[in-house]
Order: sequence, then C-alpha cells, then structure tokens
Amino acid sequence: MTNPATLCSNLSINARGHLCFRGHDTLDLAAEYGTPLYLLDADRVRENCRTYLDTFLECFPAGSKPLFASKALSFTGIYRIMQEMGMGIDVVSSGEIHTARNAGFDLSQAFFHSNNKTDDDISFAMDTGVGYFVVDNPEELLAIQAEAERRGIRQKVLLRLTPGIDTHTYEAVNTGKVDSKFGQAIETGQAEKITVLALSQSNLDLRGFHCHVGSQVFTEDVFERAAEIMLRFIAHVRDICGYSPAFLNLGGGYGVRYIEDDPQIDIPRKIRDVAAAVNKTCAELKIPVPAILMEPGRSIVADAGLTLYTAGSVKTIPGYRTYVAVDGGMSDNPRYALYGARYTCYNAGRMNVPYEMECSLVGRCCESGDIIQPFLRLPAETGRSDTIAVCTTGAYNYSMASNYNRIPRPPIVMLHEGSHALAVRRERLEDLTALDL
Ligand code: LLP
Repeated sequence: MTNPATLCSNLSINARGHLCFRGHDTLDLAAEYGTPLYLLDADRVRENCRTYLDTFLECFPAGSKPLFASKALSFTGIYRIMQEMGMGIDVVSSGEIHTARNAGFDLSQAFFHSNNKTDDDISFAMDTGVGYFVVDNPEELLAIQAEAERRGIRQKVLLRLTPGIDTHTYEAVNTGKVDSKFGQAIETGQAEKITVLALSQSNLDLRGFHCHVGSQVFTEDVFERAAEIMLRFIAHVRDICGYSPAFLNLGGGYGVRYIEDDPQIDIPRKIRDVAAAVNKTCAELKIPVPAILMEPGRSIVADAGLTLYTAGSVKTIPGYRTYVAVDGGMSDNPRYALYGARYTCYNAGRMNVPYEMECSLVGRCCESGDIIQPFLRLPAETGRSDTIAVCTTGAYNYSMASNYNRIPRPPIVMLHEGSHALAVRRERLEDLTALDL
C-alpha cells in the first residue's frame, strides 16, 4: 500500500483515502482553486531555511550565510519568506531583482549572478542597490567598473571561478567543470588573471570568490573538494597579491528525493563535513577562515511543492501502453522533457487501493515529448475527472513554466498548518494577449 509520508513528511492520507499535503485534503484544494494547481507548503520552506540557518550558525564564522537561489522558484511571496527568515538571495536577472524588490526584500543581501549581465542589467542592479555582483568574466568586470565609476561608487563584487570538478549529475547542470560557459577556470590561469584585474580596478571592492559545481548532486565529498581547491587558490592569491577574501561562496546543488529510490541527503551533516574540510585546509595553508556562503535552491523549495492535475483521457493501446492525460504538462513542468527527471505521482483521491496499472502520465501539449512521467503505476480505476498529484515540484517547475500552446500558467497556493491562500493567481486568457499590439 502507498505511504507517501516516506517520500516527505508533509504528505499523508486522511480518513477519506485522499492525499493530504501539510494536512490539507488535496481534493478540496483542487475543487476550490481548480487545476492545474501548484501548491507550496510555506511551513516546509521555512523548515528547510531553518536547517541551513541553524547549521551555518553552528559551523561557520560570523558573516556566513545561506542564500536562496531564487531561480528555483521566483515570485513575490517567496522573497517575503526569505526576508522574514533572514536568508540572503541569489538573483540572475533584472526580472528576479524586480520581483525581490516588489516583495520588499533588502537587496543589500542579494548576490547578482548570470554569465552575461547586460549593461541594462548592471545599471538596474546598481539603481536598486543590489549588494554584490558575482562577476563571470573580464568583459563584464570592466563594464561593472565603468558603470560604478560613472556613478562614483565602489561596487562589491565576487568572482565566479570554475574549480574543475565533475559532479556526475546530468549534463545540463554539471557546471563546475573547466569546459563550462560559467566562470573563469583555475586550471587555465584565467582565474588568477581576473583576480589581478579586479584588484586593480578603483571602483570595485573584491569581496571574495564563488564556485558552483552543479545541481541535484549526490556525489560524496564534492563540496569539500571544491572548497579545498578554492582555498588553495585563495592561498596562492595571498602569496602573489597579498589579498585575503572576506567570502568564499560554494554555490548550491544538494540533491533532493524525487522518488523513494533517491538517496536522502542529511544537510546538517553535509555542511558539518564541509566546515571540517574548510577549517582543516585553512589551518594547513595558514589562511584565515573566510565567511562561507552557499546558494541552495532545490533543497529549500523542492519538497515544499506539489502539483495537482485533473485526468482526462485514459487510452490503452493494446500490446503497447496506457496513457493517462492531464490538464497540464510540459508547460508547467518541462523537467522530464528536458532532463528525464523522475517524479512520484499519485491518484490523489485513491490512495488506499493497489497501484497496478502501468502507464505514462502525459500532458495536453501538442507534442509527443510532453510527458510528465513514463512507466509509473496508478490505480486501475483511474479515469476522467480524477485528481492526479505530482510530488516534489517546488523547484524549477513554476520558474521554468511557459505558455507553450498558449496554455495559461497555473496559480500558486501557499499552505500553512491550518490555512491556505492564493499567492500567484491563475493566468487568464487576456493575460496571454496582454503584450500583443
Ligand atoms: N548557484 C548557482 C550559481 C546556480 O547556477 C544554481 C543552479 C544554484 C546556485 C542552485 O542550485 P540548486 O541548489 O538548486 O541545485 N533547471 C534545472 C536546474 C538548473 C540549476 C541551475 N543552477 C533543473 O530543473 O533541474
């Protein structure tokens, strides 16, 4: 029999045999708000932030902080939670900066990423008081210097470096390798060059170094290895320039459990291991321990999300397979289409029956690749009007949603113990033509 609580503790089954999320009957929520529907367990988001905040306080020197990588989920309400929790944020575009500002987020605690910030982005980020730019390349460095000089300010920056680590996650998110569009490689000498260049700029205040090895990472020791490589680089820079950074930013990337077979990462334990490696290497190299930043995205919001759909046709092709089609698809969750991502799916109104029908859960978009999840099992009774739940959709679902086929994007409803409220309304047909002249 299905026990969803073993996937995540915010899932349960009530007396009606319905799937509950943070104690709310998902069928009641589907009836009230309609489907497709993104649910976000705000209490879980807070718990996940708290795990990082408490472990940081325990392990790292003053000034260390977890930053929420808001590319994983960006809308006004999430930045309000980050502000309330005392998290910093990682932003990658003027759009994310604008959304954070709209939430009243203190942008002095924002770190502006992206491998290709335009002049407009640079100027908007300075207008809005973004605290730190994470500089990717020399052209960008000089553009930021020029704009800071024009404004008569000294802009705080970090430099993005590639430590040359292969995380063995899927290729699209394997970012720490030397052969990457991001950052300057230590191995090739480009990291040293950009550091010397940054230190010679009168309007840039170099605060430290950044690396990000990848996403959905389960590889053992990868953050320790990245930290060690970065600290050795820091010691080298001290030797050649006498410079010591205030911050070392180790990026994001801890993997989450989408299916029962995925490993469970014990984040406090992982962070303690990183802290031990940092302290040991700093002692060995005789360098001060820098304040540590990390940028978790997925591990803050993934298991706080769940998507509800309504089933339509259930088509069995004899000798081939059964397709269960729902009223959403790759327009609200492109992750199987892009990465072959795995998900756990339930028939939310039929939790206490056997899950014996092998099928593929597919969307309503006009292409065969519009698959939410192939080869899963649902109850044989599954049919039109049933509510289908896809779990662990809090990260990179809403933020990667599109209007493909002019399908309006679903709303986000935030859940708390005992209450729920709309946080992003459903797109309307008029929204789809709002930009058309
Ligand atoms: N910091 C930097 C510089 C990043 O590029 C990323 C993710 C993060 C932090 C956050 O990593 P996380 O903790 O979420 O793993 N769309 C893909 C994931 C792309 C990740 C991009 N960068 C997916 O749906 O799996």
